[in-house]
Amino acid sequence: MVLSDRSQTATRLLRSSASHSYDPEVEIDWDAPLLPDAFFAPEHRSSLYGTPLWDGLTPEQRRTLTKHEVASIASLGVWFETILMQLLLREYYRQDPTAPHAQYALTEVADECRHSVMFGRMIEKLGCPVYRVGAFDNGLGKWIAATATGPRMYAAILIAEEILDSLQREAAADESLQPLVRMVSRIHVIEEARHVRYAREELARQVRAAGRSRLAHDRIIIARAAYLTGRRLISPEVYRSVGIDPRVGARAARENPYFRETMRWAGEKVVAFLKDLDLIGGPGMALWRRSGLL
Ligand SMILES: [Fe+2]
Ligand SMILES: [Fe+2]
Repeated sequence: MVLSDRSQTATRLLRSSASHSYDPEVEIDWDAPLLPDAFFAPEHRSSLYGTPLWDGLTPEQRRTLTKHEVASIASLGVWFETILMQLLLREYYRQDPTAPHAQYALTEVADECRHSVMFGRMIEKLGCPVYRVGAFDNGLGKWIAATATGPRMYAAILIAEEILDSLQREAAADESLQPLVRMVSRIHVIEEARHVRYAREELARQVRAAGRSRLAHDRIIIARAAYLTGRRLISPEVYRSVGIDPRVGARAARENPYFRETMRWAGEKVVAFLKDLDLIGGPGMALWRRSGLL
């Protein structure tokens, strides 16, 4: 990867932010009713698609499950974005406010701020609960938000952003889906393209600057972030919405070849990028394998 100058990239991204930013309050018709017969995510991306449990669901229940799966992904999105905003603000605090790089960090906070409001409104509109991570991951999130810097910070961000990106690109293009989900996905995909660009370049720079022992430590944290994203994208609690025990549903999803392929596909680009930077390996491999992203 050829690295361009930090401030050149930031200047370009600031220009793109000025011309391609969306206010979800204005762009989305929040009062439009949901369509009665449309899925919320492509059927074949549902975590239970193709399993005997899926065969036992009515068409209505299948739509309901995709609705809760979308809400689960949006819930994890808000959680990640809230952590990311804290990290970016802390970075900004240390920098020169006249530097394009610092200004871009702040602009990204503004993007994520709108996204989290948008995801929150969508979850409410869907009539779904906010699917929160468990106590351990919540503690991990607080710790990362307060301390993360360097390679582990940008790698964790990229894993979440790129996986969401794969799923949302497909949803935005699928005309059979609920228009609300498509519009939310579209706005997010367009604005996240800048974030992915910024995080990829920053990560490559930070890896070059980091020492060997720093990277060995960061590989473990990155593997844990991958594990969390892979395993918690779909909260086991979503299965309650269609009368399936969360443990039974989660196990069926983990063993479902269709869903395994979905996760592998969603993680493909970011995994290849992290491999190129030699960030996947060492003691964290067991977590990576269990993440379902490899
Ligand atoms: Fe976002
Ligand atoms: Fe982002």
